[in-house]
Amino acid sequence: MKVFDLKNELNRFLQKERNKNHDIGLVPTMGALHKGHISLVKTAMLANDVVVVSIFVNPTQFDKKDDLEKYPRDIKKDLDLLKSVSEKIVVFTPTVDEIYGSSIKSQTYAFDGLDKVMEGEFREGHFDGVGTIVELFLRTISPDRAYFGEKDFQQLQIIRKMVDSMNLPFEIIGCPIEREPSGLAMSSRNERLSKKTRTEASFIYKTLLTAKTKFGTESAYTISEWVKSQFEKNTTLDLEYFQITDEDTLTPMLKKQVDRKYRAFIAVYADDVRLIDNLRLN
Ligand code: PAJ
Repeated sequence: MKVFDLKNELNRFLQKERNKNHDIGLVPTMGALHKGHISLVKTAMLANDVVVVSIFVNPTQFDKKDDLEKYPRDIKKDLDLLKSVSEKIVVFTPTVDEIYGSSIKSQTYAFDGLDKVMEGEFREGHFDGVGTIVELFLRTISPDRAYFGEKDFQQLQIIRKMVDSMNLPFEIIGCPIEREPSGLAMSSRNERLSKKTRTEASFIYKTLLTAKTKFGTESAYTISEWVKSQFEKNTTLDLEYFQITDEDTLTPMLKKQVDRKYRAFIAVYADDVRLIDNLRLN
């Protein structure tokens, strides 16, 4: 398996692939890889000749120093997992210095308000950090297609918006959420939960599923109040937000319109670990 930590060397390799008319797929990650990431890699392998997986814990998208420091890192385990999927995967593992040099700063983006709600409201500067690193990876690697999970649905919409508004010639592909057998959305952060909390965290998905059944007959307000009351009774999980929004604009649903798609979004603290999830409602 080829592993590059320098942009120039990766590009030299990719140029040869492009000369052979090979399509390049990119799967950006922050490592601590699990089946959710691997599902993106496998989807990318179906449509591209070369798949680049980047592993880079991007400092500019963390609003809390503590969260950045505690972010799980195990590059050997990640490489072994990728190798077990396919020896043909190309891995990009740059250092912070290689990416940012001496200036570890975000660009500022106009995401048409998509960045102001939910994750953007609770994690200041987060999406400027995501935009910065994703733009940089897209421009450096120039993939034909780049793959992102619906697990971070707001991130996916923001990246689509960025690529559209900058007219970047890369196809952005969204992939469905992979879940643990309990229903808990797979996440690198799940590793930081105790066994007991990890089991109890399946409550998040169960609540989303019930919200979906209520969506046929109840208003967004009633459903939100019901969700809040469920979490008030729960002693393990603390609700940060629950919102039902229009899938494209991410604005709160006020009155249901038949031609619009709606999605429920949730963020919860468990053992001081922040977990997010979402579910399409119609
Ligand atoms: P990370 O959290 O490592 O996730 C990398 C990609 O895997 C993202 O597109 C994310 O949505 C997807 N993913 C994570 N868990 C998933 C799951 N359970 N099912 C399906 N897809 C899942 O998201 C980031 O890193 C960063 O913000 C990044 C885009 C790499 C920029 O730094």
